[in-house]
Amino acid sequence: MMRDQTVGTAPDAMPGIISGICGNRALATGLARKGTFRGARSRLRGATLAGMTNPSQHPIDASVPHSARVWNYWLGGKDNYPVDREAGEKFLETFPGIAQEARAARAFLTRAVRYLAEEAGIRQFLDIGTGLPTADNTHEVAQTLRPDARILYVDNDPLVLTHARALLTSTEEGYADYLHASLEEPKEILAAARERLDFDEPIGLIIIGVLAHVSGYGRAKDIVRTLRDALPAGSHLIISDGTHSHQANVEAQEDYNESGAVAYNLRSKEEIAGFFEGLEVVDPGLTTVTRWRCEETEFGTPPEVDGYGGVGRKS
Ligand SMILES: C[S@@+](CC[C@H](N)C(=O)[O-])C[C@H]1O[C@@H](n2cnc3c(N)ncnc32)[C@H](O)[C@@H]1O
Repeated sequence: MMRDQTVGTAPDAMPGIISGICGNRALATGLARKGTFRGARSRLRGATLAGMTNPSQHPIDASVPHSARVWNYWLGGKDNYPVDREAGEKFLETFPGIAQEARAARAFLTRAVRYLAEEAGIRQFLDIGTGLPTADNTHEVAQTLRPDARILYVDNDPLVLTHARALLTSTEEGYADYLHASLEEPKEILAAARERLDFDEPIGLIIIGVLAHVSGYGRAKDIVRTLRDALPAGSHLIISDGTHSHQANVEAQEDYNESGAVAYNLRSKEEIAGFFEGLEVVDPGLTTVTRWRCEETEFGTPPEVDGYGGVGRKS
């Protein structure tokens, strides 16, 4: 794999914990919001999910690792099979930082969705590559701040489909639904999204940890361009992915990609920046996911990781 040795601040920093990377952002912010989340969750009601695909038509393959399930393993979840745990452990042996990276990416998602709902006035979200349900899923974060928020999730993993049916909820005022579809078919996603979201109103498009599953950078850019072009002015794009700044990450990823799983193609910071071309990139720009509007937590300073993320606004 080609690597760009000039990119990224992460390698020097890893795998140790960097103190002070959050600048002046206060611990109190996260703690105060926790209470709000509890309050909002008590208003969440079970909702029938419209347009669900029949999970039995999409059998689960437990013979090869699956991205959603391995990710769930690194996040400390239990929705995974021996083959996923084995692949996850093997990766950790070579690159222990991957578990922190998964958690940092989830925390980035929370902060970015919060920014969109609270500061950018977004109340509609299209989250592609949803993953298995975990803490602070997009609809929970968004509907805590905006109970009328509308969320459409998209993933192509059969287990994610099964869990979406069982676990997705929405506020009464809002909406949350799930579409079983591939990012590789953006026009299909857009056609379904048009029936569920209002395309006259800005939309937050979330693509976290998924674009690297598209082989070919040009193809990945085309997909993002197709999705972006369909969105109205004022819409926002949230993207993060793993980068190849750290040699151990590259080696672990190469091994994983030979396991039979759908490959994850680590890219450079510059390549990730390319997805935002033509958009107004929101402060603080494209950073490691840890540094993006970083917040201290009650567990201390979050560790630096080998993944970059950012938020762009379409004008
Ligand atoms: C690394 S996980 C990230 C999950 C979630 N976005 C998060 O940040 O926690 C990648 C997710 O992308 C999904 N995925 C992979 N290829 C996909 C595709 N072509 N279309 C839709 N989803 C895909 C996987 O099933 C998995 O749920």
